[in-house]
Amino acid sequence: CGIIGYVGDPDYNMPGESETLDVLVDGLSNLEYRGYDSAGVALANGSVEVVKTEGEVDSLRESLADINSSAPTGIGHTRWSTHGPPADRNAHPHTGDTDRVAVVHNGIIENYDNLRSELTAKGHEFESDTDTEVVPHLIEEGLNKGLDRPEAFQYAVDQLEGSYAIAAVFAGDHTIYATRQDSPLVLGHDDGAAFLASDVPAFIEHTDQVTYLDDGEFARLNPNGVTVTDSTGTPIDKSIRTVDWDPEDAGKSGYDHYMLKEIHEQPRALRNCLRGRVDERSGTVIDEEFPDVDVSGRVHFVACGTSYHAALYGARLFREYGVSAQVFLASEYDARSIPVDNSTVVIGVTQSGETADTLSALRSARRAGATTLAVTNTVGSTAARECDDVLYIRSGPEIGVAATKTFASQQVALTLLGMSVAADTPDRKLVAALRDLPDQIQTILDDSDAKALAETYVDSSAYFFIGRGDNRSVALEGALKMKEITYKHAEGFAAGELKHGPLALVESSTPVFAVVTGDDERAIKTIGNMKEVDARDAPVIAVTDGRAGAEEYANDVLEIPETHPRLAPVLANVQLQLVSYHVADFLSRSIDKPRNLAKSVTVE
Ligand code: G6P
Ligand code: GLU
Repeated sequence: CGIIGYVGDPDYNMPGESETLDVLVDGLSNLEYRGYDSAGVALANGSVEVVKTEGEVDSLRESLADINSSAPTGIGHTRWSTHGPPADRNAHPHTGDTDRVAVVHNGIIENYDNLRSELTAKGHEFESDTDTEVVPHLIEEGLNKGLDRPEAFQYAVDQLEGSYAIAAVFAGDHTIYATRQDSPLVLGHDDGAAFLASDVPAFIEHTDQVTYLDDGEFARLNPNGVTVTDSTGTPIDKSIRTVDWDPEDAGKSGYDHYMLKEIHEQPRALRNCLRGRVDERSGTVIDEEFPDVDVSGRVHFVACGTSYHAALYGARLFREYGVSAQVFLASEYDARSIPVDNSTVVIGVTQSGETADTLSALRSARRAGATTLAVTNTVGSTAARECDDVLYIRSGPEIGVAATKTFASQQVALTLLGMSVAADTPDRKLVAALRDLPDQIQTILDDSDAKALAETYVDSSAYFFIGRGDNRSVALEGALKMKEITYKHAEGFAAGELKHGPLALVESSTPVFAVVTGDDERAIKTIGNMKEVDARDAPVIAVTDGRAGAEEYANDVLEIPETHPRLAPVLANVQLQLVSYHVADFLSRSIDKPRNLAKSVTVE
């Protein structure tokens, strides 16, 4: 998902008929790394002209081949669907009933449903399934009330709740209007031209002079320059910085790898997942935001890889709430070989929504009469389309092959789902703890000792991970991450199973990561397992909130903040992601594209 905007005077750079279009489409190509499913542009001159299409920026380029526009102003967008499947009609830019204004948007308009009903009642006609389309209609409402363009833009934005970076152009106006809330926007300056984008690489070939817009700020761009104001119109003096990134680095927002960028995006991903789904005042989940499935019969989770670990984690909450929930590796699931009927709910957990093993398990469940539910990151994916219902985890696109932020989002989405469909009474403490989770992850990201630890243990030939209960799923995920990106031998075990076999593998050179959270019997027993490891002279690393005193028995410690016991595994996992990342980085592995692995596996 990405935004580009350009406004220039006709003599800017290489004057030519198609100058604006080139800047826009090349900008979109440079944003492709962010992930998208559709693309489009709007050119503003006397009128506003929109061209948009589902699919690649290259197909947009083809559709634009015949356009000969001298418009000096335009905006472009790559869409990563959150509301409505990828389709031409859902691609941005969006216009209102008259083509006076065109709008691009990244993010989610949380209250779009209400706004859309109000606008429809006033006679507005909608052409797309997106949340975004309310914005141009609201701007039109403003214009109809006699507001001027900046006022109409402000009028629309004032009514929006959610996360957004928005840019708009109007017929007969060589200005781009933009604002942001929880979604990035950066402005670029040059003599006789101004740029706007969700990330620097979109325009870095034109200028390295940039201004970062902050939440709640409004920008107006025209060929003579850029003005930034607050929501009351008071000008804000913004600094201009010179960026010295080459486009390749810029694509990763300054991080060395997409994986590290995505690990750091977890606070934002979780805020997005929670947005509009919990009631801040009453401390409850908002049931209407969740699929209405009857879990009084059996519940089967089916998933692969990292998603399987998230399912292991999620299913435990369902069981705590009294639901008969089981988890299956999708490739092992066959609805003919276990009891499945029309009272069974089968939940496919799949980031991509395209994993063949998971799709096949869901199909076999459907044939056996089960109700199916997809928990996925990808709107319009096969799983989303084929299942009876869908819950989106709203992580944003994930580029690194090794899943990181989508795992955290799956854990949180499944927790919310469990509370909504399975809990008899509201769990206010858990809801409150969920709200604190993004900030706690940020604390871990800021303070983690994972890099130093990785350096200590980078030469080990094997790594073990142990945990009990919810923490077993994190031990398994920790080991999967480690083997995926370091190519080292790594295994995760239920802590209690260590002594039933794997302990034979433990030597003085084998670090064992013990995930110990809370202070219940499970934590105490896991500390016992740490001692068994210690007795074999192997280094033990405790990943712990310190509540059970595990650090006393550890050679090294990775700390996590205290949270609700159910959520501690989400935090512990972030430390393990960082350890694997840094071990792989010290080994100079191909972190974002590990050998032999694919992001989405479409064969069984
Ligand atoms: C592939 C990826 C894994 C991922 C698994 C399931 O094997 O390499 O990282 O966990 O597929 O993907 P899904 O899209 O179904 O969550
Ligand atoms: N929510 C909008 C949509 O689904 C914008 C998605 C994006 O950020 O690209 O169209």
